[in-house]
This record gives sequence, structure tokens and C-alpha cells, in this order.
Amino acid sequence: MRVSLKNSMVPFILFGIGASFVLSSCLKEKEGSAVMAAEVTYENTIKGLLSSRGCVGCHTSQSPILTDYTKVKDNFTVVLASIKHDAGTSNMPKSGSKMPDAEIQAFVDWEAGSFKEN
Ligand code: HEC
Repeated sequence: MRVSLKNSMVPFILFGIGASFVLSSCLKEKEGSAVMAAEVTYENTIKGLLSSRGCVGCHTSQSPILTDYTKVKDNFTVVLASIKHDAGTSNMPKSGSKMPDAEIQAFVDWEAGSFKEN
């Protein structure tokens, strides 16, 4: 009797474990979609920041040229280092104050989202 009672619990235990897996993966997906909702693209964020922070003003003629999607994407590593003021890279914007963390984060997010254009 005791044994069969225990055995009858097994499906419930397994169901419980399974349900919590499903639940936790749902939660993860939700987190993911929250990030997606605020997805950074070149057109919706990066282009505007490069303009409002004066980058494009200088980097229309100054290397690296930062006037379009492909050029910004191709120079991304050094661009990110320059706005983070990493050692070994010139600090940008040149002779301006460092960009706010939230704006620098937008560049990080842009990379994490595989450099979407639109
Ligand atoms: C006032 C003009 C000016 C502004 C504004 C400016 N830059 Fe620059 N930038 C330069 C010049 C000049 C150089 C090259 C000489 C040097 O490294 O200081 C340069 C160099 C760079 C480099 C190469 C750095 C390296 O070490 O190889 C990157 C990347 C860059 N800028 C990105 C940016 C970004 C992103 C912004 C906006 C946040 C910006 N720049 C704003 C003038 C500017």
C-alpha cells in the first residue's frame, strides 16, 4: 500500500519538475522579448546619437568615416572603445564630455542585437 502510494506520486512530481522548467523558460523568453521591444537599430538610435553627439560633424571628413550604417558597423570596435574611453583609443567625442552611460549602453545593445539597420 505504502509503495503504491509513493509510486502514484511519481507522475505528479515529474509533472511539477516539468512545469517549473516550462515556466522558467517562459520567463526567460519574456525577458528576451522585453529587450526586443526596445531593440536598438542604426536607424532608431545609433544614427541619432552619432549626430547629436557631434560625431558625424567631424567624422564626415575625419577617419573613421561615420556617415552611414556600413561604415559605423565596420568601425564598431574602435567606436565603442573611443566612447567608453578605453585605454589605447582616443577618447570621443573629441574635446567633449563623455557620453552618458545609457547612450553608451545603446551601442553595446546594438552589437548584442547583431547590428540591426532598421
Ligand atoms: C571635434 C571633432 C570630433 C568629434 C566631435 C568627434 N571626433 Fe572622433 N576623432 C576626431 C579626430 C580629429 C580623430 C583622430 C585623431 C585622434 O584620434 O584624436 C578622431 C578619432 C576617432 C576614432 C579613432 C580613434 C582611435 O584611437 O583610433 C574614433 C573611433 C572616433 N573618433 C569616433 C568618434 C565618435 C563615436 C564620436 C562621437 C561620440 C566622435 N568621434 C566625435 C575628431 C572628432
